[in-house]
Amino acid sequence: MKVVAREIELGEVEADLAAIGIFEGEPVPEEIVGATGAETAKGAYKTLSPAFAGGGRIVLAGLGKREELDAERLRVVAALVAKEAGRLEAGSLAWVLPQTDDDASAAEALVTGTILGSYRFDRFRSEPPEEPAPRLESLTLLAADGVAAAAEIARAYAEAQNRARDLQSTPANFATPATLAARAEEIAAGAEAVSAEILGPERLEEMGMGGLLAVSQGGPVEPRLIVLRYAGGGEGPTLGLVGKGVTFDTGGISLKPGAGMDEMKMDMSGAAAVLEAVAAIAELGLAIDLIAVIPSTENMPSGTAIKPGDVITQYSGKTVEVNNTDAEGRLILADALTYAVELGAERIVDLATLTGAVVIALGSTYAAVIANDDELAAEVVAAGARSGELTWRLPLHPEYKELMKGKVADLSNLASQRKAGTITAASFLEEFVGNTPWAHIDIAGTAWDVGREYTGKDASGFGVRLVVELARELSA
Ligand code: BES
Ligand code: MN
Ligand code: ZN
Repeated sequence: MKVVAREIELGEVEADLAAIGIFEGEPVPEEIVGATGAETAKGAYKTLSPAFAGGGRIVLAGLGKREELDAERLRVVAALVAKEAGRLEAGSLAWVLPQTDDDASAAEALVTGTILGSYRFDRFRSEPPEEPAPRLESLTLLAADGVAAAAEIARAYAEAQNRARDLQSTPANFATPATLAARAEEIAAGAEAVSAEILGPERLEEMGMGGLLAVSQGGPVEPRLIVLRYAGGGEGPTLGLVGKGVTFDTGGISLKPGAGMDEMKMDMSGAAAVLEAVAAIAELGLAIDLIAVIPSTENMPSGTAIKPGDVITQYSGKTVEVNNTDAEGRLILADALTYAVELGAERIVDLATLTGAVVIALGSTYAAVIANDDELAAEVVAAGARSGELTWRLPLHPEYKELMKGKVADLSNLASQRKAGTITAASFLEEFVGNTPWAHIDIAGTAWDVGREYTGKDASGFGVRLVVELARELSA
């Protein structure tokens, strides 16, 4: 979407639709006094009212009470307005920036809500008989000077988030490990400071990436280990990003039930978020160095698949009893975490749709953060709060780790008891990061089915904004 900020009046702007916020219990802004519809408009949060002035169509957007307005409410209202623009088939939208005490964050929120709210995934719809529905193509913020930079930053990360949603939504017969690898190469080709390296099955075999190979051996689709580096010239430590890239998770021999299994095309949501966050960070030229490692495979049942009880050797050399082939994410992440440390990551954040247990614990409102380092955990939680991608920290404890011991091997991929499934999964991962500060984000509850106005019920692209926000903080 084309996003510009201009210091002009509502009457001067040429857009198919103009939007202006109104606060509950306050008179309408002076720009629209006298406009048809302005007298009856409501300021209640999320209420939209139509108005007309000077032949132009206006939507009056209820922002609620002034003291309750925050970035989240602005994202929500902006998304509602974007959907209204869609219904009206508006190609261009102008938004009068509401008055708050922070113009830059208000601009970021409006841009984010507009771009995320106008997202749709229609790649697989056959050509409609009529003209394809027009899309919202441009957003003009009517604002005092100084918000242009914030608007541009938000445009970059919100578009990245929509690209992550595209990757998530793409079915597994179109989005394979090779597809994710191709996207990594495309990102590298588009940015001077980014380079990609893709490891296929032969290399993985030579290196002994036993976790990734074990998961992939059940199906014919080749695995990939994707490495993306961004050299942004940061003075701080190199940030490692690891994203789970299971392009379809059937559960393997420990087969999942059929209901809702189609959602497991999105078991690569962590990978999608990492790829597109790196793209956005590079586009913004943030002064940070990144190493992203994405293990990608399908998890299929077959005569060649790993079986419950099989013992594998991870890249680190640790042996693991695979007691449930549906606990595949931790096996591939273990290799990727070891490799990220080896490549020079000085602190690591991983994003993974790792456990059903986190959906039970936190629903779709918070992702879980589990970390071996208080400072990194606090930075992740803060970045999540600033971006609106909320996270809640859960603890580690030696007692959880005890549950992950193997009967015949060093570790088991399945805890000996079902309780605290999100934490026991993370305790397994912790075995592979050594002393490197590490924060794991379990996004199984937030990667889709979130249901906010700007995420919808399908793929949410969760993690892109959080990672970009974290990189902004670490590069500042
Ligand atoms: N990809 C799933 C986790 C998941 C579940 C993501 C629901 C999104 C929604 C993961 O690979 C998995 O199957 N985890 C198992 C682990 C168990 C066998 C220890 C789970 O959570 O049931
Ligand atoms: Mn699984
Ligand atoms: Zn999985």
